[in-house]
Amino acid sequence: MLLTHWLATHCPAGPHFEPMTKVIAGLAKAAVQIASHARLNGLGGHDYGQAAGGQNSDGDAQKALDVLADQLIIEALAGGGVAAYFSEEQDATILLDAEAGLVVACDPLDGSSNIDTNLSVGTIFSILPATGDLANAALQPGRNQLAAGFFIYGPQTILLLTVGKGVATFCLDQDGQFQQLSWQPQIPETTSEFAINAAYQRFWPTKVQDYIAQLLAGKDGPRTRDFNMRWCASLVADAYRILRRGGIFLYTGDSRPGYAEGRLRLIYEANPIALLVEQAGGAASNGADRILDLQPDSLHQRCALVFGSASEMAEFTKQPEHPAR
Ligand code: AHG
Ligand code: MN
Ligand code: MN
Repeated sequence: MLLTHWLATHCPAGPHFEPMTKVIAGLAKAAVQIASHARLNGLGGHDYGQAAGGQNSDGDAQKALDVLADQLIIEALAGGGVAAYFSEEQDATILLDAEAGLVVACDPLDGSSNIDTNLSVGTIFSILPATGDLANAALQPGRNQLAAGFFIYGPQTILLLTVGKGVATFCLDQDGQFQQLSWQPQIPETTSEFAINAAYQRFWPTKVQDYIAQLLAGKDGPRTRDFNMRWCASLVADAYRILRRGGIFLYTGDSRPGYAEGRLRLIYEANPIALLVEQAGGAASNGADRILDLQPDSLHQRCALVFGSASEMAEFTKQPEHPAR
């Protein structure tokens, strides 16, 4: 089934139905273009991994593909249905059609450090109901999301999408159409695989130090089995793997300056990933509270993000904060 047909038959009926189908189709159109640029990086004089000269609000140097992806999405959303657009790459709100009923928050290009290493990158999106104060309409808890998902640009370009009734997946075919896959993600309850950037181990809170030490102890330690580790430095790639085969992902706060709340942003990274993960039977928290219940204070605020297989999330959560030494 083509994405357009799936949208027409699965988006929830009601006032948001028509704009929702238009917005997701618009995001898919932008994703086809972004995928093409990522695939042809280095040809025609283009170097999409190079610095674009600007910084985003988080102080990250913007890559050329960050900026291009953001522009392609804005153009696609100008097609209607969106009152306001919020982006990792924009300091302020982009007001579009004040009468429209939806707002969209985006990480236009996730995993930017991987653009010139030929590793998977992606576009993460969150669709919320528009509120009266459009400039701050993204400041809603993630449980309000009407839809969320991400495109991953890798060996395959795949869309993972939820409109609140499970997760559907679509693969970009050779004709430039998104075709539905039979895979409907259900995260395995248990796992023996974790994802964390171990380079920052000395900065982690005690709880994370102790939890990871138990996994590294393997069958000789309290977990009595060996674990494997993966870290892609692309949230979409780690999330895709975990949605496919289970796992636990951790990017918590740490003692580095500016990392008290970790690195990932609540509104356009943690919330959409958390909705997909919960819809696929997993769990997502900031280490203590459910991600989807967090009330954002500002557009680019960071939050600790731990997500994955439900029983492993319970194992991490029950880990004491400061065990007796
Ligand atoms: P972005 O490229 O949108 O800034 O996101 C990068 C994020 C996320 O994709 C990934 O999980 C994390 O940064 C990697 O962080 P480290 O480089 O600190 O490992
Ligand atoms: Mn990102
Ligand atoms: Mn990004």
